[in-house]
Amino acid sequence: MRTTIIGTGIGLGANVVKNDALAKIMDTSDEWIRTRSGIEERRYVDAGVGSVELGMAAAEQAMRNAGVGTADIDAIVFATMTPNYFFPGNGPVLQAKMGFGEIACFDIRQQCSGFLYALDLADSLLRSGKHRRVLVVGGDVHSPFLPWHDGWDATIGQGDGTVTPEQYARNTAIRDRAVLFGDGAGAVVVEQRDDDGRGLLATRLFSDGTNIEALYVPGVGFRMRPFVDHAQLDQRLPIPVMEGKAVFKEAVTRMPAAVRAACEAAGVGVGDLDVLLVHQANLRIVEGVAKSLGLPMEKVPHNIERYGNTTAGTLPILYHELLEAGRIQPGMLVGFTALGSGLHWGGAVYRA
Ligand code: ACO
Repeated sequence: MRTTIIGTGIGLGANVVKNDALAKIMDTSDEWIRTRSGIEERRYVDAGVGSVELGMAAAEQAMRNAGVGTADIDAIVFATMTPNYFFPGNGPVLQAKMGFGEIACFDIRQQCSGFLYALDLADSLLRSGKHRRVLVVGGDVHSPFLPWHDGWDATIGQGDGTVTPEQYARNTAIRDRAVLFGDGAGAVVVEQRDDDGRGLLATRLFSDGTNIEALYVPGVGFRMRPFVDHAQLDQRLPIPVMEGKAVFKEAVTRMPAAVRAACEAAGVGVGDLDVLLVHQANLRIVEGVAKSLGLPMEKVPHNIERYGNTTAGTLPILYHELLEAGRIQPGMLVGFTALGSGLHWGGAVYRA
């Protein structure tokens, strides 16, 4: 038996935010963002919409495509670092809103590699025989990290579109991160099928927590007393901190190594991959991974130009779009790889 994806779906923020919209509220430019990251636009949700709601849209489509209803799913795995509530996690919120039975819900938080970890967990749940069909959701909303009181309404066509020099300066201080992220979710339904050579062939997951400060949220944590206060907000501690260059370097070395490890575990060569889906954090990283593995860019498709980095959403969104476009055909060998805060990273090999 092998774990097989039988349906996919996506949920995206309703507002398309082009680079020029960001350039109105901070010192950045369409040219800088395109050149350094490949991003042209990203999506922001409307106020009141969270990762659960995007995940629901993705899950509904995935279940429709799989031809299954809520009664056919017996576990949910939801990967996000931006849940609707601090606790409980998104799993039971989505479960109740979509009318599932009292099935097991797992909430995991592996940031950008969240979907890979979720897929691996679902595979283990299925292989153990404890579950027969699992809904896997990966999705994040990044726009709520942004300081909306500093004129961000203008990015979605609201407010009067002006910012004070102080607001402009504050937005510019976070421009390295603020331009990279967007809101989106993807979902897949997986089940065990007779092994006909198709399905999930291998996964290899890794973590290294020795330098979490390279990419983390310094405030709003339970080592603080109280866990959130005005001083933290004044110091902007709930906004993620990122050492861009350090993370970039980790990404272009660790992801290729993970792909090689997953291919070895699957008994295939890297060159045998028909398509490799790389986490969409920066087009330059995607290109670096392809180059390191000796794969032509035709085999390494991307959609970061339209969505930016949607963290746990990027791999399932890309997979869904490639299936819909006919770029992934039955029988093709598909690689997945991701790296994110933790650090957590990994690779997977899947026969479509
Ligand atoms: N607009 C204009 N200028 C900017 C911007 C911006 N948005 N951001 C930074 N700059 C400036 C910097 O201030 C700097 O100016 P200076 O030379 O006057 O000091 C200059 O541009 C160059 O900055 P660098 O940091 O050297 O730019 P770099 O080419 O390294 O690109 C980037 C920065 C895009 C952040 C890149 O390092 C990157 O993508 N890193 C990896 C990000 C990542 O993969 N994150 C992991 C996933 S996230 C997760 O897990 C949640």
